[in-house]
Amino acid sequence: MKIEIRYFSGTGNTAITAAALGKALKELGEISISSIEENIPVGSDTDLLILGGPIYAGNIPEKLIRWLLRNVESNKCSGKAIVFTTSAGLKNAFGNKSMSLKLIKKGYSIYGTAAFEMPRNYYFGSYEKPASDIIKEELKSISEKSADFIRSIDWDSPIKPDSKGILQLDLFAELFSVMARFMGKSYRVDESCIRCGKCVKNCPTRNIRMNENGVKFNLSCMHCTRCLHGCPVNAISYKGIKYEQYKPDEILLKIQENN
Ligand SMILES: Cc1cc2nc3c(=O)[nH]c(=O)nc-3n(C[C@H](O)[C@H](O)[C@H](O)COP(=O)(O)O)c2cc1C
Ligand code: SF4
Ligand code: SF4
Repeated sequence: MKIEIRYFSGTGNTAITAAALGKALKELGEISISSIEENIPVGSDTDLLILGGPIYAGNIPEKLIRWLLRNVESNKCSGKAIVFTTSAGLKNAFGNKSMSLKLIKKGYSIYGTAAFEMPRNYYFGSYEKPASDIIKEELKSISEKSADFIRSIDWDSPIKPDSKGILQLDLFAELFSVMARFMGKSYRVDESCIRCGKCVKNCPTRNIRMNENGVKFNLSCMHCTRCLHGCPVNAISYKGIKYEQYKPDEILLKIQENN
């Protein structure tokens, strides 16, 4: 069985979840797993496609919607699909519905949808960074939750999501992506910047430039927060405020080392 896993992840939660799902599925066949930033299309002969992304303002990022529409070929072999999201809360998150309906149009049948609660990576304004024991617990439990989810799938019964409200939901994702371009102008770099270029290299929308005057943010931000959390010296602020960074890979590594 040919299994393809594709995801977008701004700061690591969705990548960690995709890897955990891959591990849970490894008995079923040959698995290829990659971020949509590697831009490896999904061929028409895929037996099982797993697609996932983080929730931004109630839906998956518009970048992932666009990628799905352009890079998942129409399926020619009764392909099965599973969709998943990661978010800080499980309410009002419609990304799975959005992905499912588009994959059905491309000839897939949906066998599983999962919304995984993961630590909030966006704690600007009125939101707060989760407590460190909650962060550790959510990251630690994702392997088990992923395995439980895969075990719960009934491979004889495809799911039929209702399409009510989908146009408005996708329109809202598009609207958020336009707002994010302007919100991204509020990121700033201070004098602690060591000009390592990591933010420039890693930005998923190539929104950051570095020249002799310093680091500048342009107008194609998707507000993923990767630059802020990934800067090695925490030189990036948002609306003039510095935040404690969120680094899920490092936390997970420490958890694994201590076990
Ligand atoms: C711009 C933005 C908007 C977000 N909106 C929501 C939201 O509406 N609901 C929610 O539960 N979490 C929201 N979050 C939190 C993320 O969905 C969550 O932390 C996710 O697991 C991040 O995944 P990643 O590390 O793969 O990028 C938002 C995060 C960002 C960056
Ligand atoms: S990642 Fe941080 S230190 Fe490196 S160039 Fe960007 S702002 Fe400067
Ligand atoms: S500028 Fe920062 S927040 Fe905006 S898309 Fe690039 S990495 Fe993400």
